[in-house]
Amino acid sequence: MTENVSKEHAMNIMNVDYSTKIPNNVNLSEDRQVLKALEGWHPGYMNWWNDMGPEGFQQSLVYLRTAYSVDPRGWAKFDYVKMPDYRWGILLAPQEDNRVIPFGEHYGEPAWQEVPGEYRAMLRRLVVVQGDTEPASVEQQRHLGKTAPSLYDLRNLFQVNVEEGRHLWAMVYLLQKYFGRDGREEADELLRRRSGDADSPRMLGAFNEATPDWLSFFMFTYFTDRDGKMQLHSLAQSGFDPLSRTCRFMLTEEAHHMFVGETGISRVVQRTCEAMKAAGIGDPSDIAKVRALGVIDLPTIQKKLNLHYSLSLDLFGSEVSTNAANAFNAGIKGRYRETQIEDDHRLQNSTYPVLKLVNGEIRRVDEPALTALNMRLRDDYTQDCAKGLLRWNKIISLAGYDFKLTLPNVAFHREIGEFRDVHATPDGVLIDDATWNKRNSEWLPSADDGDFIASLMTPVTEVGGFAPWISPPKVGIDNKPGDFEYVKIET
Ligand SMILES: [Fe+2]
Ligand SMILES: [Fe+2]
Repeated sequence: MTENVSKEHAMNIMNVDYSTKIPNNVNLSEDRQVLKALEGWHPGYMNWWNDMGPEGFQQSLVYLRTAYSVDPRGWAKFDYVKMPDYRWGILLAPQEDNRVIPFGEHYGEPAWQEVPGEYRAMLRRLVVVQGDTEPASVEQQRHLGKTAPSLYDLRNLFQVNVEEGRHLWAMVYLLQKYFGRDGREEADELLRRRSGDADSPRMLGAFNEATPDWLSFFMFTYFTDRDGKMQLHSLAQSGFDPLSRTCRFMLTEEAHHMFVGETGISRVVQRTCEAMKAAGIGDPSDIAKVRALGVIDLPTIQKKLNLHYSLSLDLFGSEVSTNAANAFNAGIKGRYRETQIEDDHRLQNSTYPVLKLVNGEIRRVDEPALTALNMRLRDDYTQDCAKGLLRWNKIISLAGYDFKLTLPNVAFHREIGEFRDVHATPDGVLIDDATWNKRNSEWLPSADDGDFIASLMTPVTEVGGFAPWISPPKVGIDNKPGDFEYVKIET
């Protein structure tokens, strides 16, 4: 090990440097040019946060965690912070000594510390697309503070929001440090696009959809942040080491976002089941009776799930994709848990089964594994999604109800890939346009469903209080008791 490597290694284990305006563990104070570029970008970021970040509450004290180290055993510190004073920093996971590229044509070669010229455009594109999703979700969620069901939930929303802001910083650091002038231009563009804007929308579909209520927020953090997890995992395998290290640390934070989604939906399901039981309702599909109790009926929860799962599947792109094959061959984007897979990591001769539309039927067809990488990542995603459903269904069955939440078929409600031009039921039965138009409100949230959920969204801001449509969490954040004041709202 050279002295340089060991020094850098030690630096990364150490606490983050908070003496500079931009906290970091990448030695920014000795990287004047990049520091200057980031400081130049900072005011635009603050303008964006003020315009497009959470509406209201900017002067409230929020009990937030801030990363102060990248040591997985204790990397975060909790304290009251006003959101605009949050220390958004640049944190990379420690450099692994002698790391090699774990897949593709450069398999086994030393990982790159600089961008290889031939892959520059491809890498920049991947960093920009990932970067674009981070501020997008903050924009989508900016109205939710006004209707939070508790201070606990309000705090979780803001935690997710500030961390998505930090993830934007993470991608902007890579752009500024490694991609020169184009990188700086892309960094500015990331602050210019807006979720749902007609003229300059965010880059991916699901990030231009509305997040109108808290059930949508929980579905989004469960299903859409989980797409983010899968993308980050495959970029964490990258032969471009700074990208790999950035994504590895982002995954640490991302876990909380999905926790918010999973437990949020659990708590909604829990409350609905309790209310039905207390009222002696035997049939969970008796929507009118359940809604009269002021809780969200299970069939409507299923519809929201159908919507968010199908929108998130689209984020994986076409099942068969030469771009995905090229990124893998190049050593830029690997598979989920690449290093734990036992094969040649080159995939030149292997195949992977892909669901395709063949003569009007959904069939499994073997495709070259290289071009089927999006399908493979999507399958890994679906398996990961299924775990939450097991937990939610357990709550329902423990309450004595015969009702199961399910993931809809991958052909259902798709805009991208094999099934974009057909209609299918959640069970995967192909149907014609007329049937779809007549029946889709049975499977996707209708305007009425949205109105009903909206009618429940009255804010609860008293300490320890919870809206009647959701159960309190089992444990508090940072082990705080149930009556902890997670947000001190300014008056
Ligand atoms: Fe993120
Ligand atoms: Fe996230």
